[in-house]
This record gives sequence, structure tokens and C-alpha cells, in this order.
Amino acid sequence: MNSLNFFLILTIFPIFSSQLKKSPQRFAPVKIIEEPIQYLNSLYTANHNQPKSDDEIDLKPKFKPAEFSGPSFLAELKGQCFDYLSNNYKWFVCPYQNVTQFEQNLRWEPFKGIIGVWYEWEIIDEKFHSLLMLNGDECGINGPRQAKIFFICNQNDTKTQVDEITEPHVCKYEIKIKTHLVCEKNYDLFTMNVYAYLNDTLKLKWDNIYSQYQNKFITEKMYNISLKQIYQDGEFLRRPEDIKNLEIKQINATNVEPGSNFSNSIKKVKFLTYDELQNKLEECEKENKRLKNILTANNFTEN
Ligand SMILES: *[C@@H]1O[C@H](CO)[C@@H](O)[C@H](O)[C@H]1NC(C)=O
Ligand SMILES: *[C@@H]1O[C@H](CO)[C@@H](O)[C@H](O)[C@H]1NC(C)=O
Ligand SMILES: *[C@@H]1O[C@H](CO)[C@@H](O)[C@H](O)[C@H]1NC(C)=O
Ligand SMILES: *[C@@H]1O[C@H](CO)[C@@H](O)[C@H](O)[C@H]1NC(C)=O
Ligand SMILES: *[C@@H]1O[C@H](CO)[C@@H](O)[C@H](O)[C@H]1NC(C)=O
Ligand SMILES: *[C@@H]1O[C@H](CO)[C@@H](O)[C@H](O)[C@H]1NC(C)=O
Ligand SMILES: *[C@@H]1O[C@H](CO)[C@@H](O)[C@H](O)[C@H]1NC(C)=O
Repeated sequence: MNSLNFFLILTIFPIFSSQLKKSPQRFAPVKIIEEPIQYLNSLYTANHNQPKSDDEIDLKPKFKPAEFSGPSFLAELKGQCFDYLSNNYKWFVCPYQNVTQFEQNLRWEPFKGIIGVWYEWEIIDEKFHSLLMLNGDECGINGPRQAKIFFICNQNDTKTQVDEITEPHVCKYEIKIKTHLVCEKNYDLFTMNVYAYLNDTLKLKWDNIYSQYQNKFITEKMYNISLKQIYQDGEFLRRPEDIKNLEIKQINATNVEPGSNFSNSIKKVKFLTYDELQNKLEECEKENKRLKNILTANNFTEN
């Protein structure tokens, strides 16, 4: 090797290596942040469409689910859960119990949360319309997460499954469950009319207020108020005072001694509160944005 060649290698190599620094490989870890890694089947055992207890351990529902109510032919859904995968989220939809959501990636502290707990029916035009799953984990200014579960007929299947989950408003979800249970052909007497599922006492009460309304003895407003009472007596809707009975007191869980400073002991709890998680998520998103900006400034494209 003559001295000129040697000189060239010495001077060119640093230039070459400084260009190497801009090669996309150097930034490979950034890409991992952007493309969550799926590990679906490792987390959830096959044929068990319920979350493993480890994943549920820090889910703390604030309320117990209400009792089953409504059309009797839906009773077989009680205690059943249906899983659903969408946009890196694994969902567990347990009608008459709860709806939970688990983020499916290896990101730092992936999201897991309670979307809602079975509370009451939504009744529209005297018909059962959807299951209201309320009082889920807080979602900032949007209040607690919640979901409505709708049932649609699955003509050609005896299998019940989640068909679609949408989020028409932030943290307010709509879940469509496809099931043969609500196909009219399967029943001689199929109906979603609330009236059909009342006992004789309440049917009679309804008959009375209906004729009073027809005869204009009571206003439509009064009729509506009386109907709501009947729905509550039939346990399809909750009364405001029922909420207390469903509430889960969690103070004992942290073994707070009488008179001790509760806000101190909260800090000792191993798991982060929902708001802390939310803050971490925001931090992560900021960092992700910052790194993306660096990439853009250095003329690297998404690929
Ligand atoms: C949701 O309901 C299912 C089915 O009953 C139950 O196994 C699970 O523990 C519940 N999850 C929470 C967070 O309460
Ligand atoms: C129901 O599904 C079976 C098998 O997937 C198919 O052969 C049949 O044509 C379907 N029937 C209807 C009415 O869609
Ligand atoms: C009564 O209820 C019906 C059906 O839910 C609704 O359309 C109507 O506006 C209500 N009327 C009054 C006065 O609240
Ligand atoms: C019907 O339900 C109401 C409210 O739960 C109850 O007070 C009443 O005794 C029941 N009537 C019959 C006939 O079961
Ligand atoms: C919670 O604490 C209260 C008062 O100390 C006690 O009466 C209650 O039994 C406790 N509940 C549980 C589930 O430990
Ligand atoms: C409890 O602890 C918090 C935080 O350490 C403190 O701000 C608060 O004053 C304490 N309250 C009492 C009653 O000791
Ligand atoms: C990125 O590309 C623009 C236009 O091609 C160029 O002017 C700029 O110097 C480049 N930036 C870097 C850091 O290479």
C-alpha cells in the first residue's frame, strides 16, 4: 500500500462512517416504538377467551355488575366472554359482566383497562335496545369509559361472536355482538318488547297507565315517568339509590390502618393509577413525536 492510498483510506473512512450514522439501521429502535410487536397467542391461552388472571390483576372495577335482567333468551350469555382483536387491542366482552381492553404490544406499560361494567338496559320506544356497560376507567375530561352492547342476528351460525367495536365518541364504545339468539326464526314468541318480560303485577300497572294516557287523564310526560318506574320495578333500569349497593369499596385492599394518611398509603400501592398511566402515555407520545421529528429533519422517510 503506498502512502497516497493510505492517506485516502484515512480521510475517506471518517466521511463514510459519518454517512453511515444516517443510515436507517441506526434508527431501527425507533421503528420498534412505531410498530408494536404482536404477541397475541403467547398472552392468551388458546380456547380460553377470558383474560388470564395476571392481566386482570391491576384492573380495579369500581362497581359490581348488576343482576341479569331482560329477555330470558339472552340468559345463556351470562358468564360468557367473547374476545375480539382490533388495532392492537384485545377486547374481552362479557355481557352482563364487564368489557375490558388490553393493548397488545411490548411497549412500556401497555394499556389495560375496564371499559364498563354491566349496569342496566337502554330502552328505546318500549323495546330493549342495548346493554349499558358503565363506570369504566376514567378517560380524562371524557369521564369514565363506557360501552353499549347491541345484539344482531347471525342467521347462519350457532356461534356468538363480537362483530364490530366502534368508538363514536372518545372513550364511548359501541359493540355489536352477532348471535343466533336474536334471530326471530328461532323463536315462536320472539320479542324485544319490554312489556313481554314483566310479571303480571307490572303488566297490569302498565295497562292502567296506558289507558289513563289514552283517555288523556295523564300527560305524555307523566306516562313516561310512570313507565320509567315500571322499568325500574322490573329491574331493567337502576334507581339512583341502587348505585350504592353496586359500589366496590377498595380502601380495605390497601390495608390502611385506622387514622393513617390514606394519600400516603396510595403511593405505596404497587400499581399505577389510571391518571398516572395516562400521563406516561402522553410522555411516550411526546417522545415518539420528538424522535419522528429528528428523522424527518434528517430526511428519513417512514420506510
Ligand atoms: C369480567 O368478567 C369476567 C367474567 O365473569 C370475569 O372473569 C373477570 O374477572 C371480570 N373482570 C373484571 C375486571 O372484573
Ligand atoms: C351457511 O354456511 C354454510 C357453510 O359456511 C354455507 O354452505 C351455507 O350456504 C350458508 N347458508 C346461508 C343461508 O348463508
Ligand atoms: C315520552 O317518551 C317517548 C318515547 O320514549 C318520547 O318520544 C317522547 O318525547 C317522550 N315525551 C315526553 C313529554 O317526555
Ligand atoms: C312483580 O314484580 C314486582 C316488583 O319486583 C313485585 O313487587 C311484585 O310482587 C311482582 N308480582 C308478581 C305477581 O310476581
Ligand atoms: C373493610 O373494612 C371495614 C371496616 O374496617 C370492615 O367492616 C369490612 O369488613 C372490611 N371489608 C373487607 C372486604 O375486608
Ligand atoms: C397526607 O399526606 C399528604 C402527602 O404526603 C399531605 O399533603 C397531607 O397533608 C397529609 N394529610 C394528613 C392529614 O396528614
Ligand atoms: C434534507 O433534504 C433537503 C432537500 O433535499 C436538503 O436541503 C437538506 O440539507 C437535507 N437535510 C439533511 C440533514 O440532510
